[in-house]
Amino acid sequence: MSTSTKKAPALIAGNETLGVIGAGVMGRTILRGLFDSGVLLREQAWASSRSKETCESAAEELGIVVSTDIGNLVATAGLIVICVKPRQIAGVLSSLKAAGLKPGTLLISILAGTTVAQLESLLGTENPWVRAMPNTPCVVREGMTAVCAGTHATPEHLAKAQRIFEAVGTCVAVEEGYFNAITALSGSGPAFQYLIMEAFADAGRSTAPSWPRQPPSATPASRRAAGAIPRARPRRRRPP
Ligand SMILES: NC(=O)c1ccc[n+]([C@@H]2O[C@H](COP(=O)([O-])OP(=O)(O)OC[C@H]3O[C@@H](n4cnc5c(N)ncnc54)[C@H](OP(=O)(O)O)[C@@H]3O)[C@@H](O)[C@H]2O)c1
Repeated sequence: MSTSTKKAPALIAGNETLGVIGAGVMGRTILRGLFDSGVLLREQAWASSRSKETCESAAEELGIVVSTDIGNLVATAGLIVICVKPRQIAGVLSSLKAAGLKPGTLLISILAGTTVAQLESLLGTENPWVRAMPNTPCVVREGMTAVCAGTHATPEHLAKAQRIFEAVGTCVAVEEGYFNAITALSGSGPAFQYLIMEAFADAGRSTAPSWPRQPPSATPASRRAAGAIPRARPRRRRPP
């Protein structure tokens, strides 16, 4: 999905691993995208979660090591993607440090509302950070992700982050100042789209109460949305 003709940088060196902290919806989605697109091999990846149950189901789904204990995993990581809830970040960062985080390991955060300055100050090291804001359509590889670089991140670090999110959709680099708008429009946007679809369905039910019941993906309201989008794409008369 990238339009770049430049050779994409390898995400990690041959002797390194890529870790995902938080094997929930987004963590699993990102890993699945990387495996399915051939950007990363399963043996190069690991993940961690808080509960044993989540670790077991993620390990079974993804076919990789998923553990509650990152003690033996962090020191090999060249890149770590953090996919926990914002309130969990302080604890995660202190466990990363305790587990021997290397100074050069690239950290990517997808946490809503948590700024680069907050992440850098909480960690208190000079590790490069990239902040990202993906959205749920990443689950079907139709995501929209914005990324921005932290103080110690180079253009190559940013390019690696873009490569990750291009495995699950489209990715753009923007200044951090746009992140609140992007979180509202793109991060939360799919939920607004579902509200519009519900409103269409309600209107349909009130005007045609005897219309036969159909699965949500087959209703006129959802087919309207699915059919309108491909026609809107090439037009781009306005900025996004
Ligand atoms: N969903 C979206 O559309 C979306 C879009 C953009 C950004 N985000 C951001 O993505 C992040 C994750 O969202 P999500 O929807 O994927 O949430 P989620 O499904 O609840 O996943 C979060 C995972 O983090 C794990 N976790 C909690 N504390 C941990 C710790 N100390 N160490 C390791 N793992 C830990 C949880 O493990 P247990 O299951 O074991 O408790 C859970 O599996 C949030 O910060 C959110 O703001 C989400």
